[in-house]
Amino acid sequence: NPIQPPVLDKCGVATYWNTTEKKVEKIDTCCPPISDKIIDYKLPPVFGMKTRPSAHRVSPEYIFKYNMATDRMKRLPKDDPRNFMQQANIHCAYCNGAYDQPGQGNLDIQVHESWLFFPFHRWYLYFYERILGKLIGDPTFALPFWNWDNPKGMTIPPMYMDSRSALYDPKRNKENFPPAVVDLGYTGNKDPLQVVSNNLTIMYSEMIRGNSSALDFMGKEYKEGSPVNPGAGAIERGAHTSVHRWVGDPNQPSGENLGNFYSAGRDPLFYCHHGNVDRMWTLWQYFLPSSKVPDKRITDPDFLNTAFLFYDENAQLVRVTVKDCLDNLRMGFDYERIDLPWLDYRP
Ligand code: C2O
Repeated sequence: NPIQPPVLDKCGVATYWNTTEKKVEKIDTCCPPISDKIIDYKLPPVFGMKTRPSAHRVSPEYIFKYNMATDRMKRLPKDDPRNFMQQANIHCAYCNGAYDQPGQGNLDIQVHESWLFFPFHRWYLYFYERILGKLIGDPTFALPFWNWDNPKGMTIPPMYMDSRSALYDPKRNKENFPPAVVDLGYTGNKDPLQVVSNNLTIMYSEMIRGNSSALDFMGKEYKEGSPVNPGAGAIERGAHTSVHRWVGDPNQPSGENLGNFYSAGRDPLFYCHHGNVDRMWTLWQYFLPSSKVPDKRITDPDFLNTAFLFYDENAQLVRVTVKDCLDNLRMGFDYERIDLPWLDYRP
């Protein structure tokens, strides 16, 4: 059977590992507000496709709107499920053990290191984006993506670096502020040219060379009753995690904010980073040569029928399924077309 969605009024304490003090920390503030009404979410008809832009190429007008929307999200009442901290806590609740699998004792629900990674984060961004759009009265608003797979996008995007902006977060590694080049292998190499070249090699390997089956890319099977973390897909394990750690502040107890699950969503850059992670899924599905993985679909009903709960842009609790998020165009968004210099980057 598929993993069942959590029961919100059974949401409990989340935990994380404090790497500095070497002990388990408990957090009891990650649970969302409770609602007794759950609506089965229907994807709305797509009238205009949203195009998510590359974060390094956006206009000042775009930055203004995005900043305003994020600022409004931060100012919503604390108990509004659309409030910025509530949104950040979604990640904590689904990733730090606040939810148990219904009917499975104390087995946690964990959306990382399995085939739920891409679907969960796609839905998470989907509602986050719609909430931002709603707050500025612009239903066409599209989140940006951090184009870290292209040399032109390999620094923290400038709009996140203005300390007066709602997009800023003080808990980041100052050593990696622009012009530092993001290190997709988390190698510690400081030579920019070598890092760029290494990044392209990593992209080629995680997107193409290393995958012989759909699950190598997506992550391993994870079903009702399975223990957590059966195995991450190539991008999740590699570039995705490196970027989290590279941005997080090593002077915080546990790499906050981006470097730890419970706090990652507190940095607005999270949603931009995951924009690119999600874009990798789309590219892999629809644009890559398929000789090694001729069939990229996972047809197991236990995958397709896995469900999650989110609050939508109208603060209604909705139940969504994996099968409804497999096609980004059906969900109403696409990505700006940018060259893929790693496509032929064989070492
Ligand atoms: Cu839910 Cu990038 O992690």
